[in-house]
Amino acid sequence: MTAIDYTARIPNNVNLSEDRRLQRALENWQPRFAEWWAEMGPVGFQEAEVYLRTAVDVGRDGWAHFGHVRMPDYRWGIFLSEPEQDRTIGFGDLKGQPVWAEVPGEFRTDLRRLIVVQGDTEPASVEQQRQLGKTAPSLYDLRNLFQVNVEEGRHLWAMVYLLHGYFGRDGRDEADAMLERHSGDADHPRILGAFNEETPDWLSFFMFTYFTDRDGKYQLGALRESAFDPLSRTCDFMLKEEAHHMFVGATGVGRVIQRTAELMNEHDTDDVVPHGAINLDTLQRYINFHYSVSLDLFGSERSTNAANYYAAGLKGRFGEAKYEDDHVLDNTEDTFLTIDNGQLVEQPMTARALVNQELRSEYTEDCRKGVRRWNRTLAEHGINVELSLPHVGFNREVGAFADHHMSPEGEILDANGWAAQKSKWLPSDDERGHVGSLMVGEFRQGKMAGWIAPPATGINTKPIDYDYVRL
Ligand SMILES: [Fe+2]
Ligand SMILES: [Fe+2]
Repeated sequence: MTAIDYTARIPNNVNLSEDRRLQRALENWQPRFAEWWAEMGPVGFQEAEVYLRTAVDVGRDGWAHFGHVRMPDYRWGIFLSEPEQDRTIGFGDLKGQPVWAEVPGEFRTDLRRLIVVQGDTEPASVEQQRQLGKTAPSLYDLRNLFQVNVEEGRHLWAMVYLLHGYFGRDGRDEADAMLERHSGDADHPRILGAFNEETPDWLSFFMFTYFTDRDGKYQLGALRESAFDPLSRTCDFMLKEEAHHMFVGATGVGRVIQRTAELMNEHDTDDVVPHGAINLDTLQRYINFHYSVSLDLFGSERSTNAANYYAAGLKGRFGEAKYEDDHVLDNTEDTFLTIDNGQLVEQPMTARALVNQELRSEYTEDCRKGVRRWNRTLAEHGINVELSLPHVGFNREVGAFADHHMSPEGEILDANGWAAQKSKWLPSDDERGHVGSLMVGEFRQGKMAGWIAPPATGINTKPIDYDYVRL
């Protein structure tokens, strides 16, 4: 069951060869994916041999194989985690009933929508990051970028398989549309706002993989709970791949901070710009920006759609089993934070209507862990500055705070107060310009750009100066 068939044109562990119609449909989609990768994937480096991991087994041990491959030769495929025997629905009004192997007619539209919205983000991030290769700070980082990119491509495959396999003609149309929308395209943009912004530099890339891929972790975690079992198993395996993306973000930002701290000490200054690095207050503003736009991806804290998805068993909470409540939530009271009459207040609401807020709170706690680690690095260097996450109401465009202005500390501001101070809190054009000016590719084996410290270890026990990309 777990073994992946690599002799097939589309590697898979779903017995694709036994379903000729589906196999043909996906084999028709495959060259379109290849065209999309050539046109919208990483710019340059398509002939380079990259030290990539490929899934060979979905089991706990040894699921990945490492080796040098050209990205266009990467074996994108369809990998689902093993089914759990006698799995039952873990939450909502149908709690305790058997999970679904097929899509129930009454939930078809909602499930398709959830899959399309998730699927759309996967190719979007590849498009957002496509220019970054030529300014990579090292071969190690270049390899990590491409690993993230090929796996986001595979996540698109994961969602396209579900659309083709379970949603008939509508599903096939949606799969085609995945390759027709493009990040930032004026006529055919990606569905979610944050996925239409360009990722212009490597600091933004690390912030994106830390904060925005982490939103993905929570969305996939919520879908892993789904009563639609193929979706649950698909998301479960995607989460295994996703862990590396967040590692790239957490260690990437951490290495920038470490380098800044070293230079602050070496030159006894807060201003490391003349030394070719990035100041701590700039890093704080990047954190403010990326965290706040990622919070918007969770949607409104109070949401009828989210309540309906929960009731129907389509999308749960992250790690549903760890909650010690009834997992139905229709009679459970909770509160949500909002602004009323110019004051921050907690308003009562059924917990079911607040599952987005719950997912978002879990995400925030997870984000804090990295910030604490980064602050330890600063403390270890004797630097008395702490980075922090801004208030949940800061710089928001979705939900209870969308029509208000707040400072990172949580002070409510009027429009003038916001306009006068926001440049203190969000990266300025000059700052982005400075970060951009540091982006010069470093492709010599074992060398590292001056604005970032080397990683603590290499990939898959290889040394840091390994030839991760053969140009
Ligand atoms: Fe992904
Ligand atoms: Fe990711």
